[in-house]
Amino acid sequence: MVRKIGVLTSGGDAPGMNSAIRAVTRVALANGIEVVGIRDGYKGLVNGDFVNLTKRDVSDMLDRGGTKLGSARLPEFKDEEVQDKAVNQLKSNGIDAIVVIGGDGSYRGAMALTKKGINCIGLPGTIDNDIAGTDFTIGFDTALNTCVECVDKLRDTSSSHHRCSVVEVMGNHCGDLAVWTALSCGAEVVITPETGYDELDILERLRYLDKAVKKNHAIVIISEKITDAESLARKISLNTGFSGRATVLGHIQRGGSPTPNDRVLAERMGQKAVELLMDGVGGHCVGIIDNKIISMPIEEVLEAPRKSRKEFYRLFDNLV
Ligand code: ADP
Ligand code: F6P
Repeated sequence: MVRKIGVLTSGGDAPGMNSAIRAVTRVALANGIEVVGIRDGYKGLVNGDFVNLTKRDVSDMLDRGGTKLGSARLPEFKDEEVQDKAVNQLKSNGIDAIVVIGGDGSYRGAMALTKKGINCIGLPGTIDNDIAGTDFTIGFDTALNTCVECVDKLRDTSSSHHRCSVVEVMGNHCGDLAVWTALSCGAEVVITPETGYDELDILERLRYLDKAVKKNHAIVIISEKITDAESLARKISLNTGFSGRATVLGHIQRGGSPTPNDRVLAERMGQKAVELLMDGVGGHCVGIIDNKIISMPIEEVLEAPRKSRKEFYRLFDNLV
C-alpha cells in the first residue's frame, strides 16, 4: 500500500508543471496519501532536499509558469551509485513511490529507480512534444501560443519593410513546435528535422514569392539546431529581393502562464499518475491519445519510433 509519495520536476521546465504538481498533491491527499515535494529534480532527490506538501502549499500555483519545485539536470544520475543514494534517501524518508514530471531523459531516471524497487510514474512535461506514447506533452500548447503571438507581431513589421523574418523556435530535434507554428501563422517556409534543410531550394522559393507572387513579406519558421538563423537571414538578403532578419525566440518559449489546455492536461495526467501508484504500478508514463488519458510502460515509450507527422507537413504544403 502506498502511504507517502514524492513528486519532482526534471530537465527543461515547461508551463503546466506547477499545475501537475498541484494535481498530484491534491489527488494524493484526497486519497489519504502524504506528499513530499522534491526540489531541483534528481539533484534534490540525491541530496534529500524534501518538503512536505499540504493542500495549501500548492495553492496559487495552477496558473504560474516554471516549476515551484525547481528543476535541474544531473548527468551523474546515470550512475548506479548515485541512483542508490537516491533510493536510500527515499527509503529513509518513508517515501514509497514518486511521480517524475519531465522529458525522456527524466523517464530514464524514473525507470532506473523503478528497477531498484521504487515505483515511479512519468508525466510528459516538456515544450518539445517529443515524447512517444502521447499526442501532447504538458507545456507544448503554451509554448506554441507564445510562438504564434511572436510570429504574428513579426509579420506586421516584416510587411512594412518588405522583409523576410527567419524565426527560430525550440524543439530539441523535434519539429512539432515549428510546424504547428507555421500552420498557425501561415508561414511561407518551414524547416525542421523532418523536412531537412535545402538552402538553395529555400532561396529559390523566396525569390519566387518576391518576384512572381509579389509578397510583401515572408516568414520562415526554423527549428533550433539545424542552421544558424542569422546566417540564413544574411543569405536571404544577399540572394533574394527580401531583406532578411533573424529572431531566435529562445527561452521566452519556456515561460508564461500555462494555457487552459495545458492546465487541464496536467490535472488529468496528475490524477492518472496517483491512481497508477495506488494500483501498485511503477515504470509507466502517462499520455493522452485521442483525448483519452492512458499509460504505457516507459521502456516501450523510449523504444517507440517517432510519431509520424506526415499529415501536418502535407497540410502545410497544401496551404502554402
Ligand atoms: P528531459 O527530461 O527534459 O529529457 P534531460 O535529457 O536533460 O531532460 O534529462 C533530465 C535528467 O534526467 C538528467 O539530468 C539526468 O539527471 C536524468 N537522466 C537522463 N538520462 C538518464 C539515464 N539514462 N539514466 C538515468 N537518469 C537519466
Ligand atoms: O527540452 C526543452 C528545451 O527548451 C529544448 O527545446 C531546448 O533544446 C533545450 O531545452 C534548451 O535547454 P537549456 O534550458 O539547457 O538551454
